[in-house]
Amino acid sequence: MIDLPRELKRRVALVEAGLARHVPSAETRPSRLHAAMRYSLEAGGKRVRPVLVLAAAELCGAAPERALPAAVAIECVHTYSLIHDDLPCLDNDDLRRGRPTAHKAFDEATALLAGDALLTHAFALLAQAHAAEAGLAHALIRELADAAGSQRLIGGQMEDVLAEEKADATAAELEFIHLNKTAAMLEASLVMGGLVAGAPASALGHLRTTGRELGLAFQIVDDVLDATADSATLGKTAGKDARAGKTTYVRLHGIEASQRMAAEHTRSALSALAQVPGDRDFLTALIEALVHRAA
Ligand code: IPE
Ligand code: IPE
Ligand code: MG
Ligand code: MG
Ligand code: MG
Repeated sequence: MIDLPRELKRRVALVEAGLARHVPSAETRPSRLHAAMRYSLEAGGKRVRPVLVLAAAELCGAAPERALPAAVAIECVHTYSLIHDDLPCLDNDDLRRGRPTAHKAFDEATALLAGDALLTHAFALLAQAHAAEAGLAHALIRELADAAGSQRLIGGQMEDVLAEEKADATAAELEFIHLNKTAAMLEASLVMGGLVAGAPASALGHLRTTGRELGLAFQIVDDVLDATADSATLGKTAGKDARAGKTTYVRLHGIEASQRMAAEHTRSALSALAQVPGDRDFLTALIEALVHRAA
């Protein structure tokens, strides 16, 4: 058995150091913009996606340090997606990662622009960090652009908004939302780690399936926690989905069935992961822990 808290802490520390190093300082002109980018990044968060990048790279035989630019890039895109998700025109949230949301701490214009800048920075960082490895830079940029694009993350966000107050939303529509607004980025995390390590296509395929199933489980648990946990524990406003009339697993299937479905997707994630050769102990323990997370 591995010591998951210790192993996780070590990788999160590496991610934090990577964020400090690979994102412009808060003093960079215009300092209000860079301060807002760093405010949201430095508020913390679980760092699930960047840790998945490092862990997949390690599983496929690369040193975690080599995967750090990709890990930072994906956390920049994720954090941008949260800043925009919280804006008044989307979920209108006041609390994120235990702090006032970016548009509350700064203002809407600054939050919008900080999100834009984090998104663009991710691609600049990948291009620059892998400038001497054109094939790898291309593969990473393509993977992240697909995951963050109009048919994945943004498409999922669009349908999430369209499904608000929609009384007759179907399970298939909800699965589309989860697959895209959330699972796409978890897939990309594991695949980008594999790409950095030069993993073969077969391993990349299994990593993609692992990320997809983990992503479905992850968003189901997010929906359950929204309905069952408190804001202080979550670091974001609890009970918002029901108040906003969101189409969620909890609304469609109830809490118990949702928990069962999350457990099933976790099992599918682990059986896909079992097809990837290498030391899977850390990733296995992490995936199992995520379905039981409290925040
Ligand atoms: C929140 O993601 C948005 C979802 C896709 C559920 P996380 O739960 O990973 O948020 P942080 O990064 O820990 O704040
Ligand atoms: C996921 O959905 C958000 C993104 C893909 C950015 P939610 O709207 O449920 O995320 P939270 O609960 O606000 O973190
Ligand atoms: Mg949302
Ligand atoms: Mg939200
Ligand atoms: Mg949520």
